[in-house]
Amino acid sequence: MKDIKSYVEENKDRFLSELIDLLKIPSVSADSKHKPDMLKTAEAVKKNLLEAGCDSAEICETPGHPVVYAEKIIDKNLPTVLVYGHYDVQPPDPLDLWNSPPFEPVIKETEIHPEGAIFARGACDDKGQMYMHVKALEYMTKNDALPCNVKFMIEGEEEVGSEHLGWFIENNREKLQNDVILISDTGMIAKDTPSITTGLRGLSYMEVEVTGPNRDLHSGLYGGAVANPINVLSKMIASLQDENNRITIPGFYDDVKEYSEAERAKMAEAPFDLEEYKKKLDIADVQGEEGFSTLERASIRPTLDVNGIWGGYIGEGAKTVLPSKAYAKISMRLVSDQDWEKISELFTKHFESLAPKSVKVKVTTHHGGQAYVTPIDTLEYQAANDAYAEAFGKEPIPQHSGGSIPIVSLFEEELKSKTILMGFGFDTDAIHSPNEHFGIWNYLKGIETIPLFFKHFTKLKQEE
Ligand code: BES
Ligand code: MN
Ligand code: MN
Repeated sequence: MKDIKSYVEENKDRFLSELIDLLKIPSVSADSKHKPDMLKTAEAVKKNLLEAGCDSAEICETPGHPVVYAEKIIDKNLPTVLVYGHYDVQPPDPLDLWNSPPFEPVIKETEIHPEGAIFARGACDDKGQMYMHVKALEYMTKNDALPCNVKFMIEGEEEVGSEHLGWFIENNREKLQNDVILISDTGMIAKDTPSITTGLRGLSYMEVEVTGPNRDLHSGLYGGAVANPINVLSKMIASLQDENNRITIPGFYDDVKEYSEAERAKMAEAPFDLEEYKKKLDIADVQGEEGFSTLERASIRPTLDVNGIWGGYIGEGAKTVLPSKAYAKISMRLVSDQDWEKISELFTKHFESLAPKSVKVKVTTHHGGQAYVTPIDTLEYQAANDAYAEAFGKEPIPQHSGGSIPIVSLFEEELKSKTILMGFGFDTDAIHSPNEHFGIWNYLKGIETIPLFFKHFTKLKQEE
């Protein structure tokens, strides 16, 4: 039986080239023209899982993009780990900001990744991180090191809100039974500072439409007399935050969990360099809710952001026009114990109430999900802690993340098991941005750490 470190060392070139093959397929879930690519990716993942040692793998149709399900059951009396990940990726736009095409992966060195990083859409989020589990399984099955049962549920709609995954889980509850859910779709602090994500924010994603006159007007003939929906929308949006950057929607903060000073002090122990942070983003200052640190603002506090705003004339040159309509996509990141459906309702009511009589407003909810917190006094967390301690020679820091994986709280509700978020990306890996990448070091370290989780989890479970 080979140890994982030498197995990774001997196979790393193949591990990289297999991932690169997967990254070449443009599995953009948001874009219907990529529907065939979605299926192609699902087929590839299925094949990879079978080759890595799964007994069975299938492509499960849903009303949307398919879910890949696979398993290796070695003994019904042993514990079962359910691995979740997603094979879909964000749209790569804007294409002209990429230094190399998003679906033609290249390896390049960076300051943070001197061993090289794979540049491609989905490299870190989440194909690269999902594939660490496939290669970890390969190691375990080929080296007689799989200590328990394993199931895989790899979906194709995470980046568009996991619309049909709830349906899939409800219809496959038995099949998905497990003792712990393991996900690598988040980040860690730094190479020498391992961390485990213990919190995810929830999300409520809204779209608003403001209508003024029934047609576009000449801005000279009508300007000043008829409400301009873009001007109105801008004012409405601006009023959603006050001078302390607090969100003004009545009731918005009612269910926000406040942390004790002791808890906040503990969180503040995570290394963070504000000057470096600003420099990396090329900003002269940060901004956010009064009374909270940058790390807190980006993790344990709720937010409201405009993701896009449009209307009127945006073509070449100038056109004098008073547009009929204006639109915006607005998202709110939520924290426990905010309920995303309640927040969507509060937003809708408040936004409608802000509109002057001169315009009509339509508010629609896109999707959402609840925030998630992993308790750290559990066997599951202990197993993850032990795995990191062994792989890194250092205890990991539990850390709240600002991102969302809306389906995680549903897993817990439906499958009654805890989720462990073992992410290996860095915040600087540019997920969702041009030039997304995933460090080779991170990829291989993930492959090395995962079997250790299986080992420690099974051991702790058997001692229970
Ligand atoms: N993997 C990310 C979420 C993430 C990234 C969490 C890094 C923590 C650290 C996931 O694919 C994602 O992008 N989620 C979306 C929400 C979804 C509904 C589109 C997000 O957070 O914007
Ligand atoms: Mn992801
Ligand atoms: Mn994502």
